[in-house]
Amino acid sequence: MIDQAATDFEAVHGARPTGVWAAPGRVNLIGEHTDYNDGFVLPIALPHATKVAARRREDGRVRVYSAQGDGTITDLALDGLAPGVVTSWAAYPAGVFWALADAGHAIGGADLYVDSDVPTGAGLSSSAALECATAAALNDLYGLGLTAPEIALVAQRAENAFVGVPCGVMDQMASACCTEGAALFLDTRTMEQRHVPLDLEAAGLRLLVIDTRVKHDLGDGAYAALRAGCERAADLLGLEALRDLPAADLDAALERLPEELAPLVRHVVTENQRVVETIEHLDAGRTAALGPVLTAGHASLRDDFRVSCPETDLAVEAAVAAGALGARMTGGGFGGSVIALVETADVEAVAEAVRSAFATAGFAAPVAFTAVPSAGARRLA
Ligand code: GLA
Repeated sequence: MIDQAATDFEAVHGARPTGVWAAPGRVNLIGEHTDYNDGFVLPIALPHATKVAARRREDGRVRVYSAQGDGTITDLALDGLAPGVVTSWAAYPAGVFWALADAGHAIGGADLYVDSDVPTGAGLSSSAALECATAAALNDLYGLGLTAPEIALVAQRAENAFVGVPCGVMDQMASACCTEGAALFLDTRTMEQRHVPLDLEAAGLRLLVIDTRVKHDLGDGAYAALRAGCERAADLLGLEALRDLPAADLDAALERLPEELAPLVRHVVTENQRVVETIEHLDAGRTAALGPVLTAGHASLRDDFRVSCPETDLAVEAAVAAGALGARMTGGGFGGSVIALVETADVEAVAEAVRSAFATAGFAAPVAFTAVPSAGARRLA
């Protein structure tokens, strides 16, 4: 596969690449819509990744080609890059060149060949994977010496300021920093991270990922509106961020908030608690105890934060009814994917139950696969 990327690079760009890099998509176990509230998240990297084969150019051109694209090379001048200039998929890699240059790093142009098996629009962070793989490639090609969290921050800046999506830092940190066999416990305020071992197989469990095929799009304004709502609530409560509201003060705080903001705050505060609870279970080896925490997280996303949709709700319901220990929507919402914690013997039955519930409801067939905690951004060759 690595050789394939190098060969394909050569076919498109006319020479061998200097190297091949990869960065994964992610699912978040718990801690949704907490990252832009300075809270906690707990993602794992997926085995699915975006590969970038790359070579420096000395003429300041940025030439990017995607195996999933329209068969043409997007050819840009590095010094002509600015927010709003690139509107296709190429905005993600171009944004990384821009963010690095804008931060004062001495980079030049490059040829890129991109190939990804991270489903797009599925809430699995295909954009973070593309950004982080590009940043990892440029980091090595130009000897920038960036650490994995620094790569994540550059990638996030590309997405916020160049692509124009006001996302938090979770997806990029997951893609850049995750390790095989562990979930990443991240405090998004301090950026302190801990790799929490997660051996599902040893616990007799599997994590089933169900892509509902309802395309989610964080760029359409709903995500920005939720983020703004959370920030306004923190403001009204006199807090730097919702992270600073202790659970013991939640009820009193809710009384002081306008009706439309109170449920957002309740979600964020209880969701941070659910992350802490999950970590306690994992540290104590109680992997199966995660199930009810996941399901409670979904109820909160559905009823308080209101980012679920009929398809994600049905996937959760059908999975739990078929014996999943717990299930929830993962990622930004408005579609995307659901994760379910399932006993190994029940994986097929749960997946089948979801497929059949979707068929009955007249929804498009979902795509289900199991995932193990995989490695973050890395050089492959
Ligand atoms: C998207 C964003 C993340 C995070 C999640 C919700 O994936 O990119 O920063 O806010 O939504 O938890």
